[in-house]
Amino acid sequence: MHAKILKPTLKNRELISTQLKKGGIIGIPTETVYGLAANAFDEKALLKIFKVKKRPLFDPLIVHVSSRKFNKKSNFLVCLAEMNLIDIERISKMAALRLRALMKNFWPGPMTLVMPKSHFVPDLVTGGLDTVGIRMPRHPIAQKLLCEVPFPLAAPSANRFGRISPTSAQDVYQELGRRIPFILDGGRCEVGVESTVLYITPRGDLILLRAGGVSVREIELKLKVKVRKNNGIKNLHSPGMLKSHYSPRKPLQILRKPILKLKTFGWGRIGILAFQGNADKISSHIGRSACIKVLSPKGNVEEMARNFFSYLRYLDAQKIDLILSEPCPRKTGLYHAIGERLQKASQR
Ligand code: TXA
Ligand code: MG
Repeated sequence: MHAKILKPTLKNRELISTQLKKGGIIGIPTETVYGLAANAFDEKALLKIFKVKKRPLFDPLIVHVSSRKFNKKSNFLVCLAEMNLIDIERISKMAALRLRALMKNFWPGPMTLVMPKSHFVPDLVTGGLDTVGIRMPRHPIAQKLLCEVPFPLAAPSANRFGRISPTSAQDVYQELGRRIPFILDGGRCEVGVESTVLYITPRGDLILLRAGGVSVREIELKLKVKVRKNNGIKNLHSPGMLKSHYSPRKPLQILRKPILKLKTFGWGRIGILAFQGNADKISSHIGRSACIKVLSPKGNVEEMARNFFSYLRYLDAQKIDLILSEPCPRKTGLYHAIGERLQKASQR
């Protein structure tokens, strides 16, 4: 099988909705990374996702919902309950208040909210947990498609398990082109790192399960509550958050300091991932040939996030023995999301 990359015309979207209704799986664009989508209520289709990605069954999938039924005045939780996704009875008043505020402020967008699941949601979606992660993507093509099918779409990132996430239709082709029939082309992803995953406890506390496209600071500013880290909270885990993830095939080593502050650089053919600055300057500083990618020459963090997976993928495909990356320059905001992914990509 060789996947066809389809432009998002009405005719092609019709073809894709028909495939999804028949239980097919499709590569789709979102603003974060490309997803591998299936009907969230179709167990046979869900199983195909796990098989194609070689993903362990305990790793839960994120459910993507259409924005059609929601407007700023609607009660988001009631809408999700009507879609048979959540169990509203198990959500306390405080949790409901916070969830509504999060949805009003950050949906559609790169934020996944983990809530008590309805019994209609298949265990395959939730990895057997009694919660479900839901997000409303803001990519216009993803939204059009979600309006055109009568069910929400479960979609993990469209890469083989543990590998670099795809941020273009061509990346999905490289990852899964021989295993899926269609990829819907929505251009390069605008955000470039996955959604922020937040768990809302029965008491309404907010716990960060994965740093991503929306920063902790933005959430704290809007809601005026602290977001807690997922440290040492009993029985709480986000099964997909393994130590090694987003991995290139080539070994990746994180340097102690920015390139221009270092003098020696290992042997062999190297590729360099820099966060900012000028590639020519870096090249003359290291005084030998290397393949250099600079995430954002001017130091713009959004640009760094947008290019991160794509440049890592590029370096991985070069004739080199080792990828050296600068350390992530900061820890807050989008840097947090990039730094976490870089760290995991360097683990074997
Ligand atoms: O931006 C994104 O979130 C992308 C696009 C395609 O939407 N999707 C994505 O999916 O990153 P995936 O499968 O690569 O990551 C999903 C992760 C799981 O591995 C897990 O860490 C967390 O989300 N998750 C999902 N449902 C959960 C639940 N019920 N409880 C705890 N964590 C959950
Ligand atoms: Mg993933």
